[in-house]
Amino acid sequence: MKLVAAADLAIDKVRKFCETYQVPRSYGTMDELLAREEPQVVTFIAPPNLRRPFVQQIAHKESVRAILIEKPMEIDLADAEAMVQTCRDRGVLLVISHQSRFMTEFLEARAWVEQGRIGQLECLRATSKGNLTAQGTHMIDLLQFYLNDREPLWVMGQIDGGIETGLHRAAVSAAATISYDDHLHAYLEAGLRSPHHHPDPKQFWLNCRLEVHGQEGALYVDWGCGLRALLSDGSRIVKARSDLPRRDEHLDLVSEIADVLDGKTSSHRCSAENGLRAHRILSSIYRSAHDRRAVGCTEPGLSVALKEITTAVGAVSLATSA
Ligand SMILES: NC(=O)c1ccc[n+]([C@@H]2O[C@H](COP(=O)([O-])OP(=O)(O)OC[C@H]3O[C@@H](n4cnc5c(N)ncnc54)[C@H](O)[C@@H]3O)[C@@H](O)[C@H]2O)c1
Repeated sequence: MKLVAAADLAIDKVRKFCETYQVPRSYGTMDELLAREEPQVVTFIAPPNLRRPFVQQIAHKESVRAILIEKPMEIDLADAEAMVQTCRDRGVLLVISHQSRFMTEFLEARAWVEQGRIGQLECLRATSKGNLTAQGTHMIDLLQFYLNDREPLWVMGQIDGGIETGLHRAAVSAAATISYDDHLHAYLEAGLRSPHHHPDPKQFWLNCRLEVHGQEGALYVDWGCGLRALLSDGSRIVKARSDLPRRDEHLDLVSEIADVLDGKTSSHRCSAENGLRAHRILSSIYRSAHDRRAVGCTEPGLSVALKEITTAVGAVSLATSA
């Protein structure tokens, strides 16, 4: 795969990018780029509220075979669903940049779970200081990755602090129980009230932890840092990220797009379908907080949950949402 062109409204920024990474052509708008180029794969990074219209425009370009978008895949569930449907109709592969599925610490811990090193799963816990769309979406997606993208039975959620108005429009804090069956629940905390794990108080964005508890032990995996295992035989294993196999998660994510397009693998692990399942869990948290009941992730009415709860609790502007 070769990067042939880039576009950004901030023309100086995109020119500098093209100069740094030796990209042949730069444009001020996506319209210009699509009019002059014949791209097979397009990455769309701009703010999430622009995702649906741009993805739908890009998917209608004849040469395009795959689109990679940043997380959150959209703000509103209805927009996410419409965007996924357009890509399905056009036969375009849509991939969400949930790169933690390729991060060495999360892959290592997942392999340990699959090898039975912590025994039968009892529960999972995911926390992030970033809110539900800033980082919670990554953590929900990781829970899904560890549970092989299965459909939850129900979600029970609560929120606090109003809805942030910035780039990552979401509850300032949220907590949820996600039930997969009577024996397996996952617990999520996303936003300012979630715990601080990182020793450096300035490392706000590195406070993302996944815990996996089994009958024979527990794993604690810290985003970008490494993992710890506490096993029931009394052993304690600590692996820093630097002790684990070196990987470039962004490169691996893009390589898997090439593999799907070349027919080497049938699906991408960060597919739109998996992203949509995570988005439905997220919307179920709002529906649950609004209705004060446990909510099924496929029930109708989830797409308006964020709007309804914003009306109910109000919008706030915070520095962390910038
Ligand atoms: N996967 C990850 O871990 C990860 C990490 C950081 C950011 N992100 C996501 O990336 C997205 C962008 O975040 P950011 O921090 O880079 O935002 P940003 O505001 O720094 O950059 C957005 C860019 O989009 C450009 N833009 C806006 N509207 C445009 C338009 N109509 N046409 C062309 N360009 C346009 C802006 O000029 C700007 O350069 C967010 O959704 C964020 O959540 C993901």
